[in-house]
Amino acid sequence: MDSIRMYHCPFQQLASKAGIRPGSVSLVATDPFYDRSFLPQADAFARLAAHLLRDGGLLVVRYGDYWFDEFYTTIRRYLQPGRCKLTEVWDGEGNVNYPRQSVSKTCQHLVFSKGNWQTRRKWIDVVRGRKDKDLHPHQQPVEVADYIVSYFSDPGDIVVDPCAGSFTYAAACYRLGRRFIGCDLAESNVRKGFSRIEQERATRVEALAVLEGLLRQGAAPTRRSIAKTWENVSTLPKSSFTFHVGLLPPASQALWQALPESRGRSLGGGGTSTTAYSQTPPTSTT
Ligand SMILES: C[S@@+](CC[C@H](N)C(=O)[O-])C[C@H]1O[C@@H](n2cnc3c(N)ncnc32)[C@H](O)[C@@H]1O
Repeated sequence: MDSIRMYHCPFQQLASKAGIRPGSVSLVATDPFYDRSFLPQADAFARLAAHLLRDGGLLVVRYGDYWFDEFYTTIRRYLQPGRCKLTEVWDGEGNVNYPRQSVSKTCQHLVFSKGNWQTRRKWIDVVRGRKDKDLHPHQQPVEVADYIVSYFSDPGDIVVDPCAGSFTYAAACYRLGRRFIGCDLAESNVRKGFSRIEQERATRVEALAVLEGLLRQGAAPTRRSIAKTWENVSTLPKSSFTFHVGLLPPASQALWQALPESRGRSLGGGGTSTTAYSQTPPTSTT
């Protein structure tokens, strides 16, 4: 199975089109429209999530204020409310909430579970992101997608986004070694999604070349000095690009293992990365 799969279809057809087995998905992470137009689809959306998720799997859904009660009540029919939410806070301009004239710089992500919530690693219920609307008018910050994917799923897990827009979750899954399946109604969005993953792939190739070079340099680097250099490589994104040591060729993996300093240090640049440098290779990389 390819690790990143993107479809041009309504989410109502995603399971059959992509051949997703019921109960095989660990995380449905998504950001549907919050306006009234989506409400008639909310029931089908909740049923899809409940059908795809494994026991203990999670739905994390970014949702606005206007139709919150209606949306929340619909999802509750199928999934357990996690009694928890994650608040996304973004830098830059806020969105004007016209009826109330408030300028909002936050958005909620609601967390639901299939069956009982299963204890996971600790997570903080606030996440910061930079506003970025280059690819889609409703694009969400990739830092937020990285955070959600890394805390609510594990490498190799299947993550589904049924309303993918510019495929921000696909990009996060690619970086973090999760298998992704998602779709969008608009063909132009799916095309953008493909180019976005191509870009991620090119970046990864470049990043691996840089890391290989560092590992082979004569001056006996430590893991700390590599992390420092990594942050200074100007051609790489400073946000949260992370990857797994298992992606390196075996000879370089051996070099990494031989370096001094503790394991578990993140090599993501820019300080926003949340993924520890893992010894586990992702199950597949396209
Ligand atoms: C708020 S946007 C998602 C933005 C995305 N999180 C990003 O970072 O770019 C919601 C998306 O849901 C898609 N959508 C709405 N109804 C849908 C449906 N029934 N099936 C699939 N996609 C749908 C829209 O085309 C839109 O691109």
